[in-house]
Amino acid sequence: MMKSTSAAVPEDSRAAREPEPREARKPEPIVRVKGLKKTYWSARGALDIFEGLDLEIAAGEMVAVAGRSGAGKSTLLHILGALDAPSSGTVYCASTNVAALSPREAAAFRNREIGYVWQFHYLLPEFTAQENVAMPLLARGVRKAEALAVAADWLRQVDLEERAAHRPGELSGGEQQRVALARALVNNPRLLLADEPTGDLDDITASRVFDQIERLHASHKLTSILVTHNLDLAARCTRALRLEGGRLTPLAAAGK
Ligand SMILES: Nc1ncnc2c1ncn2[C@@H]1O[C@H](COP(=O)(O)OP(=O)(O)OP(=O)(O)O)[C@@H](O)[C@H]1O
Ligand SMILES: [Mg+2]
Repeated sequence: MMKSTSAAVPEDSRAAREPEPREARKPEPIVRVKGLKKTYWSARGALDIFEGLDLEIAAGEMVAVAGRSGAGKSTLLHILGALDAPSSGTVYCASTNVAALSPREAAAFRNREIGYVWQFHYLLPEFTAQENVAMPLLARGVRKAEALAVAADWLRQVDLEERAAHRPGELSGGEQQRVALARALVNNPRLLLADEPTGDLDDITASRVFDQIERLHASHKLTSILVTHNLDLAARCTRALRLEGGRLTPLAAAGK
């Protein structure tokens, strides 16, 4: 005769269904870099930028990266955003092994997951602010009317709806950067990578642009990595790191 299926669950199989301890359920970090090496080759030989860099960033963090010129800050963002390839090591960004992407996959990954903002806005001068913000949507095949409507909403989010019809040359430096921020986020990426986004602005304007970054970071549940030389702005991030000698250390411990 068959045993009743309603019999008590054996002790060890019940234990197997207990919730796992908190540590085991910790979510995967959205950025996981292990043993990253990057070497540039030129006529003068090898230039080692990173010699075993490690970095983990949890979803929702806003991380500042400071460091002297030439330390490799831009190189690090380029590698995380699949614009440049590591020489060795593992680089997982937004659940993607970025080193393993083909050029076509890297482009799709960037469109889907990464919003980039650079020190200079790189807006297209012959198009309006609204058209510039709509550009990544048009590139994805979104209809023009819809793309422009979404772009208008993003301009509202950076308090620039009244500047929608202005061309970049008719905007202030801070406004140009806010348009660039809207354009970076219009495809709803999970990560915002910003390379000295306020580096070309005076302190007050820089702080206003940073306010906007903070607000969008929170409202869109972004994970943000911001390269900045401005230690006041770095202090407003959830974590601040210094890149030096190919390694990352906490900024405070590095003795700012
Ligand atoms: N494509 C390349 N080929 C060779 N060397 C490069 C290349 N790109 C960058 N480098 C070198 O790598 C080093 C790191 O450059 P990177 O642009 O990452 O520095 P950074 O920390 O962003 O500096 P900055 O604060 O001036 O922007 C520099 O010494 C630079 O000259
Ligand atoms: Mg740089």
